Amino acid sequence: MQYSVITGKPELISVDTLVIFVSKFDKLNDSLLKQIDRASGGSLRTMLESGQFEGKSNQTAELYGIDGFQASRIILAGTGKHSASDVDKFRQAAGTVARMRGFQKSESVLIHLANSKAPEAFQAALEGCLLGGYKFLAFKGDDESQKVEFPSSISFLITDSKAKRKIEKGVTKGQIMAEGQLLVRDLASTPGNFLTPKLLASRVEKLGKDHKFSVSILDEKQIKQEKMGALLSVSRGSTEPARFIIMKHNGGRKGQAPVVLVGKGVTFDSGGISLKPGLNLHEMKGDMTGGACVIAALTTAARLNLPLNVVGLVPATENMPAGNATKPGDVVTSRKGLTIEIINTDAEGRLILADALDYANEFKPQAVIDIATLTGASLYIIGYEGAPFFSNNRKLKAKIESASNTTSEKVWNMPLWEAFAEGMKSPVADLLNSGGRDAGTCKAASFLEYFIGDWPWAHIDIAYVDVEPSGRPYIPKGATGIGLRLLIETLTNWKKL
Ligand code: BES
Ligand code: MN
Ligand code: ZN
Repeated sequence: MQYSVITGKPELISVDTLVIFVSKFDKLNDSLLKQIDRASGGSLRTMLESGQFEGKSNQTAELYGIDGFQASRIILAGTGKHSASDVDKFRQAAGTVARMRGFQKSESVLIHLANSKAPEAFQAALEGCLLGGYKFLAFKGDDESQKVEFPSSISFLITDSKAKRKIEKGVTKGQIMAEGQLLVRDLASTPGNFLTPKLLASRVEKLGKDHKFSVSILDEKQIKQEKMGALLSVSRGSTEPARFIIMKHNGGRKGQAPVVLVGKGVTFDSGGISLKPGLNLHEMKGDMTGGACVIAALTTAARLNLPLNVVGLVPATENMPAGNATKPGDVVTSRKGLTIEIINTDAEGRLILADALDYANEFKPQAVIDIATLTGASLYIIGYEGAPFFSNNRKLKAKIESASNTTSEKVWNMPLWEAFAEGMKSPVADLLNSGGRDAGTCKAASFLEYFIGDWPWAHIDIAYVDVEPSGRPYIPKGATGIGLRLLIETLTNWKKL
């Protein structure tokens, strides 16, 4: 795949398809649209006036054989009524276009973003193309009709050559961001038998080599030496040994305190002895999506050369029932020394995160962000629309909210009230691993808070935003990869909190 930014007369550029983004207010103000209208004997005006194509969000139209144009096909893609800064409209329209046969069948595509000059708009447009056209085919046969078809070259047309350098940077960022998000989708979609903790660790070692970040893996023996009793209590019941994945991107100055990212890496969550019901249980192969976000974040940070030291930690394990599995009522000792009474073995994510958050202290972090498919209860907060998140630091909270606005990966801040932390105290041990059904997402966050050191911390619960049930413009049905762009944008232009 080749991406470029070019200047020139659009009609003279020889491509299979010309894609023009049309906002609802452009009508025929755009000079290129005027030109096409004239060349087509006014058919564009007729289309607009009849309401057949008005440039509404995600509306599309195809024109063929327009006089004087080298492109044999012109796709009009509506971006609706939007402000210049609302680049998600471009991401969405591009995602819709990426699923059109005309686009998929083209070798070369030229994209014209009406009167937008912001590099972020070009970034979003390429992200939309790559994200919208995605399918997970790793386990499909050779059936040609199933193949993903994608143009081998996409060019972006600009009028002002002075802006070229900046726009090229935007396009490159778009490619790298989208590929990061697709990596999350690939990992999350990979079946549990092909992505055990061991296999996940070796995937990360390969990513580290390919993209130049450092990787070290703790095996079970080393995890025991680290006294990660909470993590080990989860892996006990599985014949697959746990792994603790440590990644480093040293983009900042030597000695700069790193931002540590922690991701839940449960490669399959059966619930353990507190076995989950069978319906949709196969979806629990995606319970390592937080970990995948962190792995992809390190990959993306390295590819973008982010000028910051970043550490990624992923405790990876299966959660299985077995004769020797941890049982409800058992008490386990975490790395920090706090004892935890296991009420429900299905509340395993917080256990493995507890040890990972405590391990983060080893890096004397300037901030720690964890991301996890942690609680089913988050479905009843903001559903599939966004991720509830928590933070003990005003500036970190603001940073994440601003990254959420830029990326359109929605989050909503939730409280860390004293009562939730109280609700996690056990009569038998220091803590309970489950404080009942009420405020499940908040109590899980408050549980994690017991394990953090004296640093700004945020926790993002991505349960249910990790999978798309029906399909959206640039998010096909299945694993969404949501979280990666949010994390990278949070790390971009990072300033001390
Ligand atoms: N991995 C699940 C959370 C989850 C559920 C993610 C559905 C995505 C979809 C987590 O390990 C879990 O089972 N949590 C329990 C906690 C409860 C036992 C306190 C839950 O949410 O039911
Ligand atoms: Mn669980
Ligand atoms: Zn889980």
